[in-house]
Amino acid sequence: MTSKEQVEIAYEKYLMPTYAPELTLVRGQGTRVWDAADNVYLDFTTGIAVLNLGHCHPRVVEAIREQAGRLIHVSNLQYNECQAQLAEKLWTISDGYRSFFCNSGAEGNEALIKLARLWGNPRGRYEVISMRNSFHGRTLATLTATGQAKVQAGFEPFPEGFRHADLNDLPSVQALVTDATAAILVEAIQAEGGVVEADAAFMAGLRELCDEQDILLLCDEVQCGMGRCGEWFGFEATGAVPDAFSLAKALGNGFPIGAALAGPRLAETFQPGNHATTFGGTPLACAAACAVVDAITEENLVASARNRGANWKKSLGELSEKYEYVDCVRGRGFLLGLVLSRSAKGLADCLTRKGLLTIPTAGNVLRLLPPLNVSDEDLEEALALIDDALDEWHATADETAQVGD
Ligand SMILES: Cc1ncc(COP(=O)(O)O)c(C=O)c1O
Repeated sequence: MTSKEQVEIAYEKYLMPTYAPELTLVRGQGTRVWDAADNVYLDFTTGIAVLNLGHCHPRVVEAIREQAGRLIHVSNLQYNECQAQLAEKLWTISDGYRSFFCNSGAEGNEALIKLARLWGNPRGRYEVISMRNSFHGRTLATLTATGQAKVQAGFEPFPEGFRHADLNDLPSVQALVTDATAAILVEAIQAEGGVVEADAAFMAGLRELCDEQDILLLCDEVQCGMGRCGEWFGFEATGAVPDAFSLAKALGNGFPIGAALAGPRLAETFQPGNHATTFGGTPLACAAACAVVDAITEENLVASARNRGANWKKSLGELSEKYEYVDCVRGRGFLLGLVLSRSAKGLADCLTRKGLLTIPTAGNVLRLLPPLNVSDEDLEEALALIDDALDEWHATADETAQVGD
């Protein structure tokens, strides 16, 4: 096997330095991953909300193995049964949305934006209002929709037709609506933005505004969908029903697949020739995603994430009584953020040394993303490690406070 050092040297020499990884991971099983030196970690990053079923879930592994030996790829010039099966499963769990398959979250959101343009242009509408602090991807259109300067910097000029309002501030959205507005795009929980929930009144207000003004409501479910927040889709907890929404990440539990799902208003907007992607909905990707939907359903993981996530959130919340640097816990299900009054990077590094992988987010938030099938014992172990790290970190907080996001 290639050594950790060889991997790092190869990264430095042959890869564009887009990322700054720290660990070399070589193996995963369930909630745990192993590095090149055989150190084991509890993985509460789940590949950034991808592995809702944990590493190498047997059902997903088996589906990929079986399908890989039968038919890996056909183009969308032909039918394939796996795509039909996956679309039917998503129709069922979404209560009637039709799918377009692609390969990533950015592409799912790009498809939503293109749907909005195609629907809106005959009505003289093309603008998309999204929220500050949101994250929608790294393509030019989705980074323009993303409400974060750090994601946009250097990529000017941006495509036209994007405006930004504030989450949970309906008047800020109303102020941007014009005759040119085609859609409002929102995450039910801003995950990259620091685990910030859209409140139910705001979401209801958006739906009402869209109905009154003949505008589309679009939800980005790339991170908060597929059971992560205790419902199949994060918007369900808010009661607002979008006209279309995107999925990716956990849809394939690690096998790349994304989707845009359209309700009745947009179900027939794309017609042959309007939109396409070579790898969208291949038999292999769809077989993996079918296994994911079946496993989440049969293992009852949506309700489990809702209930056990709520209990774990409560336990995490008690840390704010014990440590002055812990402000609160935000989020739902197993998309949780421990909000600190200091940079979260120092705490995350300390936790890595103790064997728990977490993600520092938005500067001062420690994002916690266990798989939905995490055991109660693993949740307890993680809580004890966080308690321990906070205790240690508390003593050295002045040093770690300088460490950036
Ligand atoms: C809410 C949200 N939307 C879109 C994306 C982009 O997805 P991808 O990286 O698969 O393009 C992400 C990625 O983190 C995300 O969290």
